Amino acid sequence: MKIIGVNGSPKKSNSTTGFALERALKLIEDQGLSTQQINLGDYNFSGCIDCGKCRNSLTCSINDDFTNKILPLLADSEIKGFLFASPVYFGGITGQLKSFFDRCVVFRRNGFMFEHMVAGGLTVGRSRNGGQELATMDIVRSCLIQGMIIVPDSSPTSHFGANLWSGHPDSIENDEAGLATLDNLAKNIAGIVKKLNL
Ligand SMILES: Cc1cc2nc3c(=O)[nH]c(=O)nc-3n(C[C@H](O)[C@H](O)[C@H](O)COP(=O)(O)O)c2cc1C
Repeated sequence: MKIIGVNGSPKKSNSTTGFALERALKLIEDQGLSTQQINLGDYNFSGCIDCGKCRNSLTCSINDDFTNKILPLLADSEIKGFLFASPVYFGGITGQLKSFFDRCVVFRRNGFMFEHMVAGGLTVGRSRNGGQELATMDIVRSCLIQGMIIVPDSSPTSHFGANLWSGHPDSIENDEAGLATLDNLAKNIAGIVKKLNL
């Protein structure tokens, strides 16, 4: 049982979203599941161009890192869930994560390969109320269209997922309220995957 964490930050290092995602994946591993983190900042890829090639097979006409590196990685039958993480950009997810979601249409068109997988959203904004929940809804929309099972952060926080504040005066590592949502989301993703025995 593997959970994939996708970091939508374009940064190659010192990503606050990456810090949060790593913590969540560690907690998921503590529950006995394996994890793998994909940092979109390490890859060069564009958005979908709607050429239609993927209607016929699990391929993409664009010769870039999504097709050559990310697509094969996501076609792993051990994957049972995802944790999608993004910095908040203008109240939504980053362009990188949006492009990732659009390119994932190849999995929808080839047997809904992500259907019934568990998915959660994690967002990090510089402002305390900078659109973290709105960005989470961007993630939720894409996951629903893939037929995935959306999970919230579990009790006692239980709302829309993990929403953190990188502008905390003492750094994101001291955003106790945000970290509580993250810890509860990680616990819930692992718990539901195990309960459903996917
Ligand atoms: C283009 C751009 C737009 C941003 N828009 C928002 C925003 O709407 N709300 C917010 O709280 N932070 C916003 N930020 C700040 C980032 O969300 C914040 O710095 C975040 O911690 C960056 O995550 P990273 O370190 O993982 O890249 C924006 C940053 C950039 C570069």
